[in-house]
Amino acid sequence: MAASDRIETLAIHAGQRPDPETGAVMTPIHLSSTYAQAGPGEHKGFEYSRTDNPTRRTMEACLAALEAATHGIAFSSGCAATTTLFHTLSPGDHIVACDDVYGGTFRILDKVMKPLGIETSWVDLTDLEGLADVFRPETKMLFAETPTNPMLKLIDIRKAAAIAKEHGITTVVDNTFATPINQRPLELGADVVVHSMTKYLNGHSDVVGGVICTSDDAIAERLRFLQNAIGAIPAPFDCFMVLRGLKTLPVRMERHAQSAADLAAWLEARPEVEKVYYPGLPSHPQHALAQEQMKTPGGMISFVIAGGLPAARKLLGAVRIFVCAESLGGVESLIEHPAIMTHGSVPVESREKLGIVDGLIRISVGLEALEDLREDLAGALEASQ
Ligand SMILES: Cc1ncc(COP(=O)(O)O)c(C=O)c1O
Repeated sequence: MAASDRIETLAIHAGQRPDPETGAVMTPIHLSSTYAQAGPGEHKGFEYSRTDNPTRRTMEACLAALEAATHGIAFSSGCAATTTLFHTLSPGDHIVACDDVYGGTFRILDKVMKPLGIETSWVDLTDLEGLADVFRPETKMLFAETPTNPMLKLIDIRKAAAIAKEHGITTVVDNTFATPINQRPLELGADVVVHSMTKYLNGHSDVVGGVICTSDDAIAERLRFLQNAIGAIPAPFDCFMVLRGLKTLPVRMERHAQSAADLAAWLEARPEVEKVYYPGLPSHPQHALAQEQMKTPGGMISFVIAGGLPAARKLLGAVRIFVCAESLGGVESLIEHPAIMTHGSVPVESREKLGIVDGLIRISVGLEALEDLREDLAGALEASQ
Protein backbone atom coordinates (compact mmCIF):
# COMPACT_ATOMS: atom_id res chain seq x y z
CA MET A 1 0.00 0.00 0.00
CA ALA A 2 1.19 3.53 -0.72
CA ALA A 3 1.28 5.80 2.33
CA SER A 4 -0.89 8.20 0.33
CA ASP A 5 -3.75 5.69 0.06
CA ARG A 6 -6.91 6.84 1.76
CA ILE A 7 -8.12 5.31 5.00
CA GLU A 8 -10.96 3.35 3.33
CA THR A 9 -8.37 1.65 1.10
CA LEU A 10 -5.91 1.08 3.94
CA ALA A 11 -8.65 -0.55 6.05
CA ILE A 12 -9.06 -3.22 3.38
CA HIS A 13 -5.52 -3.69 2.09
CA ALA A 14 -2.83 -2.32 4.43
CA GLY A 15 -0.31 -4.99 5.37
CA GLN A 16 -2.13 -7.56 3.22
CA ARG A 17 -1.42 -9.16 -0.10
CA PRO A 18 -2.48 -12.48 -1.62
CA ASP A 19 -0.65 -15.42 -0.04
CA PRO A 20 2.43 -15.99 -2.25
CA GLU A 21 2.13 -19.78 -2.00
CA THR A 22 -1.59 -20.33 -2.61
CA GLY A 23 -2.92 -17.04 -3.94
CA ALA A 24 -5.42 -16.91 -1.03
CA VAL A 25 -6.79 -13.38 -1.03
CA MET A 26 -7.67 -13.37 2.65
CA THR A 27 -4.90 -13.59 5.24
CA PRO A 28 -4.52 -17.20 6.46
CA ILE A 29 -4.98 -17.97 10.16
CA HIS A 30 -1.58 -19.26 11.22
CA LEU A 31 -2.28 -21.40 14.26
CA SER A 32 1.19 -22.89 14.55
CA SER A 33 2.83 -22.07 17.86
CA THR A 34 6.32 -22.79 16.53
CA TYR A 35 8.25 -22.53 13.24
CA ALA A 36 10.77 -24.86 11.63
CA GLN A 37 14.35 -23.64 11.59
CA ALA A 38 16.80 -24.88 8.92
CA GLY A 39 19.45 -24.81 11.63
CA PRO A 40 19.61 -23.16 15.07
CA GLY A 41 18.61 -19.51 14.57
CA GLU A 42 18.01 -19.97 10.82
CA HIS A 43 14.33 -19.13 10.38
CA LYS A 44 12.04 -17.14 8.09
CA GLY A 45 11.30 -14.36 10.60
CA PHE A 46 9.11 -16.40 12.93
CA GLU A 47 10.32 -18.58 15.80
CA TYR A 48 7.52 -18.85 18.32
CA SER A 49 4.01 -17.38 18.20
CA ARG A 50 4.17 -15.45 21.46
CA THR A 51 7.09 -13.53 19.97
CA ASP A 52 5.55 -13.05 16.52
CA ASN A 53 2.88 -14.67 14.37
CA PRO A 54 2.12 -14.03 10.67
CA THR A 55 -1.61 -13.35 11.15
CA ARG A 56 -0.92 -11.05 14.08
CA ARG A 57 1.84 -9.26 12.20
CA THR A 58 -0.55 -8.57 9.30
CA MET A 59 -3.22 -7.20 11.62
CA GLU A 60 -0.68 -5.05 13.46
CA ALA A 61 0.51 -3.57 10.15
CA CYS A 62 -3.05 -2.74 9.11
CA LEU A 63 -3.82 -1.07 12.45
CA ALA A 64 -0.59 0.92 12.36
CA ALA A 65 -1.46 2.18 8.86
CA LEU A 66 -4.91 3.30 10.03
CA GLU A 67 -3.40 5.33 12.88
CA ALA A 68 -0.66 6.73 10.60
CA ALA A 69 1.86 5.00 12.86
CA THR A 70 4.95 3.00 12.00
CA HIS A 71 4.35 0.38 14.70
CA GLY A 72 1.27 -1.56 15.79
CA ILE A 73 1.63 -3.90 18.77
CA ALA A 74 -1.33 -6.11 19.66
CA PHE A 75 -2.53 -7.61 22.94
CA SER A 76 -5.15 -9.99 24.25
CA SER A 77 -7.40 -7.15 25.49
CA GLY A 78 -7.52 -3.38 25.73
CA CYS A 79 -6.61 -3.74 29.41
CA ALA A 80 -3.62 -5.95 28.50
CA ALA A 81 -2.52 -3.19 26.09
CA THR A 82 -2.75 -0.41 28.69
CA THR A 83 -1.19 -2.55 31.43
CA THR A 84 1.76 -3.43 29.18
CA LEU A 85 2.09 0.25 28.27
CA PHE A 86 2.23 1.24 31.95
CA HIS A 87 4.97 -1.37 32.42
CA THR A 88 7.22 0.82 30.25
CA LEU A 89 7.40 3.02 33.39
CA SER A 90 9.45 2.39 36.53
CA PRO A 91 8.64 2.61 40.26
CA GLY A 92 8.68 6.28 41.27
CA ASP A 93 7.37 7.47 37.91
CA HIS A 94 4.16 9.50 37.85
CA ILE A 95 1.23 9.55 35.44
CA VAL A 96 -1.31 12.30 34.84
CA ALA A 97 -4.59 10.86 33.58
CA CYS A 98 -7.99 12.29 32.74
CA ASP A 99 -10.46 11.88 35.57
CA ASP A 100 -13.09 10.19 33.39
CA VAL A 101 -11.24 7.14 32.06
CA TYR A 102 -12.80 3.75 31.43
CA GLY A 103 -13.37 2.06 34.82
CA GLY A 104 -10.96 -0.77 33.99
CA THR A 105 -8.17 1.70 33.21
CA PHE A 106 -8.83 3.42 36.54
CA ARG A 107 -8.63 0.01 38.25
CA ILE A 108 -5.28 -0.85 36.60
CA LEU A 109 -3.75 2.47 37.66
CA ASP A 110 -5.26 2.50 41.15
CA LYS A 111 -5.07 -1.16 42.12
CA VAL A 112 -2.20 -2.58 40.04
CA MET A 113 0.27 0.20 39.18
CA LYS A 114 -0.03 2.24 42.40
CA PRO A 115 1.05 -0.68 44.63
CA LEU A 116 4.01 -1.09 42.23
CA GLY A 117 5.08 2.50 42.99
CA ILE A 118 3.63 4.24 39.93
CA GLU A 119 1.24 6.93 41.09
CA THR A 120 -1.47 8.69 39.06
CA SER A 121 -2.95 12.17 39.46
CA TRP A 122 -6.51 12.43 38.14
CA VAL A 123 -7.22 15.66 36.31
CA ASP A 124 -10.13 17.11 34.37
CA LEU A 125 -8.32 17.46 31.06
CA THR A 126 -11.18 19.34 29.42
CA ASP A 127 -9.52 22.36 31.07
CA LEU A 128 -5.81 22.46 30.23
CA GLU A 129 -5.12 25.74 32.04
CA GLY A 130 -3.46 24.24 35.11
CA LEU A 131 -2.07 21.10 33.46
CA ALA A 132 1.58 22.14 33.65
CA ASP A 133 1.18 22.75 37.42
CA VAL A 134 0.19 19.11 37.95
CA PHE A 135 3.35 17.84 36.29
CA ARG A 136 6.14 16.77 38.64
CA PRO A 137 9.78 16.14 37.82
CA GLU A 138 8.94 12.41 37.84
CA THR A 139 5.87 12.71 35.56
CA LYS A 140 6.48 10.49 32.55
CA MET A 141 3.08 10.01 30.94
CA LEU A 142 -0.07 11.98 30.15
CA PHE A 143 -2.95 9.58 29.60
CA ALA A 144 -6.03 10.99 27.86
CA GLU A 145 -9.21 9.30 26.74
CA THR A 146 -11.29 11.31 24.29
CA PRO A 147 -14.24 11.15 23.99
CA THR A 148 -14.33 9.94 27.58
CA ASN A 149 -16.33 6.99 28.76
CA PRO A 150 -19.14 7.45 29.74
CA MET A 151 -19.45 11.24 29.96
CA LEU A 152 -18.29 11.88 26.37
CA LYS A 153 -16.11 14.81 27.40
CA LEU A 154 -13.49 15.86 24.87
CA ILE A 155 -9.84 16.63 25.40
CA ASP A 156 -8.00 18.96 23.05
CA ILE A 157 -5.29 16.52 21.91
CA ARG A 158 -3.22 19.10 20.04
CA LYS A 159 -3.01 21.43 23.05
CA ALA A 160 -2.53 18.70 25.66
CA ALA A 161 0.24 17.00 23.66
CA ALA A 162 2.02 20.33 23.09
CA ILE A 163 2.05 21.10 26.84
CA ALA A 164 3.29 17.57 27.63
CA LYS A 165 5.99 17.77 24.98
CA GLU A 166 7.35 20.99 26.51
CA HIS A 167 7.91 18.99 29.71
CA GLY A 168 9.34 15.91 27.98
CA ILE A 169 6.25 13.86 28.85
CA THR A 170 4.80 11.14 26.60
CA THR A 171 1.18 11.71 25.53
CA VAL A 172 -1.03 8.65 25.23
CA VAL A 173 -4.56 8.78 23.80
CA ASP A 174 -7.11 6.01 24.23
CA ASN A 175 -8.82 6.29 20.84
CA THR A 176 -11.31 3.45 21.39
CA PHE A 177 -14.46 5.59 21.17
CA ALA A 178 -13.39 7.66 18.18
CA THR A 179 -11.43 5.07 16.15
CA PRO A 180 -8.86 6.24 13.56
CA ILE A 181 -11.76 6.99 11.24
CA ASN A 182 -12.93 9.88 13.41
CA GLN A 183 -9.74 11.00 15.13
CA ARG A 184 -6.03 10.59 14.46
CA PRO A 185 -4.19 11.46 17.69
CA LEU A 186 -0.66 10.95 16.32
CA GLU A 187 -1.30 13.56 13.64
CA LEU A 188 -2.41 15.93 16.43
CA GLY A 189 0.87 15.49 18.33
CA ALA A 190 0.25 12.49 20.61
CA ASP A 191 3.03 9.91 20.90
CA VAL A 192 1.02 6.77 21.49
CA VAL A 193 -2.51 5.56 20.72
CA VAL A 194 -4.17 2.69 22.58
CA HIS A 195 -7.35 0.86 21.64
CA SER A 196 -9.65 -1.75 22.92
CA MET A 197 -10.03 -3.67 19.63
CA THR A 198 -12.99 -5.36 21.32
CA LYS A 199 -15.08 -2.36 20.31
CA TYR A 200 -15.38 -0.67 16.90
CA LEU A 201 -12.15 -2.00 15.38
CA ASN A 202 -13.42 -5.57 15.43
CA GLY A 203 -16.98 -4.30 15.44
CA HIS A 204 -18.94 -7.53 15.83
CA SER A 205 -18.80 -8.22 19.60
CA ASP A 206 -16.98 -11.50 19.11
CA VAL A 207 -13.34 -10.69 19.95
CA VAL A 208 -11.57 -9.25 23.00
CA GLY A 209 -8.31 -7.55 22.05
CA GLY A 210 -6.16 -4.44 22.29
CA VAL A 211 -3.52 -2.60 20.32
CA ILE A 212 -0.95 0.15 20.80
CA CYS A 213 0.17 2.25 17.81
CA THR A 214 3.15 4.60 17.79
CA SER A 215 5.78 6.05 15.50
CA ASP A 216 8.27 6.40 18.37
CA ASP A 217 10.87 3.69 17.72
CA ALA A 218 12.17 3.60 21.30
CA ILE A 219 8.69 3.18 22.82
CA ALA A 220 7.83 0.55 20.18
CA GLU A 221 11.00 -1.41 20.89
CA ARG A 222 10.25 -1.48 24.61
CA LEU A 223 6.64 -2.51 23.94
CA ARG A 224 7.72 -5.31 21.61
CA PHE A 225 10.02 -6.57 24.34
CA LEU A 226 7.18 -6.43 26.90
CA GLN A 227 4.66 -7.98 24.49
CA ASN A 228 6.90 -11.04 24.29
CA ALA A 229 8.11 -10.95 27.90
CA ILE A 230 4.69 -10.53 29.56
CA GLY A 231 2.97 -12.50 26.82
CA ALA A 232 -0.54 -11.00 26.83
CA ILE A 233 -0.89 -11.63 23.09
CA PRO A 234 -4.03 -12.10 20.97
CA ALA A 235 -4.83 -15.49 19.39
CA PRO A 236 -4.33 -15.82 15.60
CA PHE A 237 -8.03 -16.46 15.07
CA ASP A 238 -8.90 -13.21 16.86
CA CYS A 239 -6.37 -11.34 14.70
CA PHE A 240 -8.07 -12.73 11.60
CA MET A 241 -11.46 -11.62 12.92
CA VAL A 242 -10.19 -8.10 13.61
CA LEU A 243 -8.61 -7.90 10.14
CA ARG A 244 -11.97 -8.86 8.69
CA GLY A 245 -13.79 -6.33 10.85
CA LEU A 246 -11.41 -3.53 9.90
CA LYS A 247 -12.39 -3.82 6.23
CA THR A 248 -15.82 -2.37 6.99
CA LEU A 249 -14.72 0.04 9.74
CA PRO A 250 -15.03 3.21 7.61
CA VAL A 251 -18.57 2.43 6.41
CA ARG A 252 -19.65 1.19 9.81
CA MET A 253 -18.39 4.35 11.54
CA GLU A 254 -20.21 6.57 9.09
CA ARG A 255 -23.52 4.84 9.75
CA HIS A 256 -22.99 4.62 13.54
CA ALA A 257 -22.51 8.40 13.59
CA GLN A 258 -25.47 9.19 11.32
CA SER A 259 -27.85 7.19 13.51
CA ALA A 260 -26.34 8.45 16.77
CA ALA A 261 -26.62 12.10 15.68
CA ASP A 262 -30.29 11.57 14.87
CA LEU A 263 -31.06 9.72 18.12
CA ALA A 264 -29.15 12.24 20.26
CA ALA A 265 -31.21 15.15 18.92
CA TRP A 266 -34.40 13.12 19.30
CA LEU A 267 -33.55 12.11 22.90
CA GLU A 268 -32.86 15.75 23.79
CA ALA A 269 -36.46 16.60 22.89
CA ARG A 270 -38.02 13.76 24.95
CA PRO A 271 -39.78 14.73 28.20
CA GLU A 272 -38.39 11.63 30.03
CA VAL A 273 -34.79 12.71 29.35
CA GLU A 274 -33.11 15.30 31.56
CA LYS A 275 -29.80 15.63 29.74
CA VAL A 276 -28.05 14.23 26.68
CA TYR A 277 -24.27 13.97 26.28
CA TYR A 278 -23.23 13.73 22.63
CA PRO A 279 -20.37 15.77 21.12
CA GLY A 280 -22.38 16.33 17.95
CA LEU A 281 -25.09 18.30 19.75
CA PRO A 282 -24.77 22.09 19.85
CA SER A 283 -25.61 21.81 23.59
CA HIS A 284 -22.38 19.83 24.20
CA PRO A 285 -19.90 22.20 25.91
CA GLN A 286 -17.15 21.14 23.48
CA HIS A 287 -19.17 20.98 20.30
CA ALA A 288 -16.68 23.28 18.54
CA LEU A 289 -13.75 21.05 19.51
CA ALA A 290 -15.65 18.00 18.25
CA GLN A 291 -16.02 19.66 14.87
CA GLU A 292 -12.35 20.57 14.77
CA GLN A 293 -10.82 17.37 16.14
CA MET A 294 -13.18 14.64 14.96
CA LYS A 295 -14.48 13.68 11.55
CA THR A 296 -17.81 12.67 13.09
CA PRO A 297 -18.85 12.70 16.78
CA GLY A 298 -19.14 8.90 16.76
CA GLY A 299 -21.79 6.40 17.79
CA MET A 300 -21.90 6.69 21.58
CA ILE A 301 -24.52 8.67 23.51
CA SER A 302 -25.05 9.06 27.25
CA PHE A 303 -28.20 10.53 28.76
CA VAL A 304 -29.84 11.05 32.14
CA ILE A 305 -33.33 9.71 32.52
CA ALA A 306 -35.82 11.40 34.85
CA GLY A 307 -36.64 9.25 37.88
CA GLY A 308 -33.14 7.96 38.72
CA LEU A 309 -32.34 4.30 39.27
CA PRO A 310 -35.93 2.93 39.32
CA ALA A 311 -36.66 4.58 35.96
CA ALA A 312 -33.29 3.43 34.57
CA ARG A 313 -34.03 -0.15 35.60
CA LYS A 314 -37.46 0.00 33.92
CA LEU A 315 -35.94 1.45 30.75
CA LEU A 316 -33.30 -1.26 30.53
CA GLY A 317 -35.92 -3.92 31.09
CA ALA A 318 -38.27 -2.56 28.45
CA VAL A 319 -36.02 -2.36 25.39
CA ARG A 320 -36.65 -4.89 22.61
CA ILE A 321 -33.86 -4.27 20.08
CA PHE A 322 -31.23 -2.59 22.26
CA VAL A 323 -29.49 -5.27 24.32
CA CYS A 324 -28.71 -4.53 27.95
CA ALA A 325 -25.01 -5.38 28.00
CA GLU A 326 -21.57 -3.94 28.69
CA SER A 327 -19.18 -3.05 25.86
CA LEU A 328 -19.82 -1.00 22.73
CA GLY A 329 -18.93 -0.57 19.10
CA GLY A 330 -20.64 -3.67 17.67
CA VAL A 331 -23.14 -3.83 14.83
CA GLU A 332 -25.92 -4.35 17.40
CA SER A 333 -27.20 -1.55 19.62
CA LEU A 334 -26.34 -1.89 23.30
CA ILE A 335 -27.66 -0.08 26.35
CA GLU A 336 -26.16 -0.06 29.83
CA HIS A 337 -26.14 1.55 33.26
CA PRO A 338 -22.57 2.83 33.87
CA ALA A 339 -22.86 3.23 37.67
CA ILE A 340 -23.76 -0.45 38.13
CA MET A 341 -22.13 -1.99 35.07
CA THR A 342 -19.04 -0.60 33.26
CA HIS A 343 -18.02 1.89 35.95
CA GLY A 344 -18.89 -0.10 39.07
CA SER A 345 -15.17 -0.18 39.91
CA VAL A 346 -15.02 3.63 40.19
CA PRO A 347 -15.57 4.77 43.83
CA VAL A 348 -19.03 6.23 44.39
CA GLU A 349 -17.72 9.73 45.37
CA SER A 350 -15.71 9.93 42.12
CA ARG A 351 -18.68 8.70 40.09
CA GLU A 352 -20.94 11.38 41.51
CA LYS A 353 -18.34 14.07 40.93
CA LEU A 354 -17.98 12.99 37.30
CA GLY A 355 -21.72 12.96 36.65
CA ILE A 356 -22.13 9.16 36.61
CA VAL A 357 -25.44 9.48 38.44
CA ASP A 358 -28.05 6.77 39.01
CA GLY A 359 -30.13 8.00 36.07
CA LEU A 360 -27.22 7.91 33.61
CA ILE A 361 -27.65 5.55 30.67
CA ARG A 362 -25.08 4.88 27.95
CA ILE A 363 -26.00 3.61 24.52
CA SER A 364 -23.87 2.25 21.72
CA VAL A 365 -25.87 2.95 18.57
CA GLY A 366 -25.66 0.00 16.20
CA LEU A 367 -26.42 -0.47 12.54
CA GLU A 368 -30.08 -1.51 12.75
CA ALA A 369 -32.76 0.56 11.00
CA LEU A 370 -32.81 3.95 12.69
CA GLU A 371 -36.62 4.01 12.80
CA ASP A 372 -36.64 0.69 14.70
CA LEU A 373 -34.12 2.01 17.22
CA ARG A 374 -36.13 5.18 17.74
CA GLU A 375 -39.37 3.22 18.22
CA ASP A 376 -37.62 0.86 20.63
CA LEU A 377 -36.31 3.73 22.76
CA ALA A 378 -39.64 5.58 22.61
CA GLY A 379 -41.51 2.54 23.97
CA ALA A 380 -38.89 1.93 26.69
CA LEU A 381 -38.83 5.61 27.73
CA GLU A 382 -42.60 5.61 28.10
CA ALA A 383 -42.43 2.40 30.14
CA SER A 384 -39.75 3.91 32.39
CA GLN A 385 -41.91 6.65 33.91
C1 LIG B 1 -12.25 3.37 26.30
C2 LIG B 1 -11.85 1.99 26.68
N1 LIG B 1 -10.56 1.68 26.82
C3 LIG B 1 -10.15 0.44 27.17
C4 LIG B 1 -11.06 -0.55 27.44
C5 LIG B 1 -10.58 -1.91 27.85
O1 LIG B 1 -10.67 -2.81 26.80
P1 LIG B 1 -10.91 -4.38 26.95
O2 LIG B 1 -12.28 -4.56 27.52
O3 LIG B 1 -10.75 -4.88 25.57
O4 LIG B 1 -9.87 -4.90 27.88
C6 LIG B 1 -12.42 -0.29 27.30
C7 LIG B 1 -13.40 -1.34 27.57
O5 LIG B 1 -14.59 -1.10 27.68
C8 LIG B 1 -12.83 1.02 26.93
O6 LIG B 1 -14.13 1.35 26.80
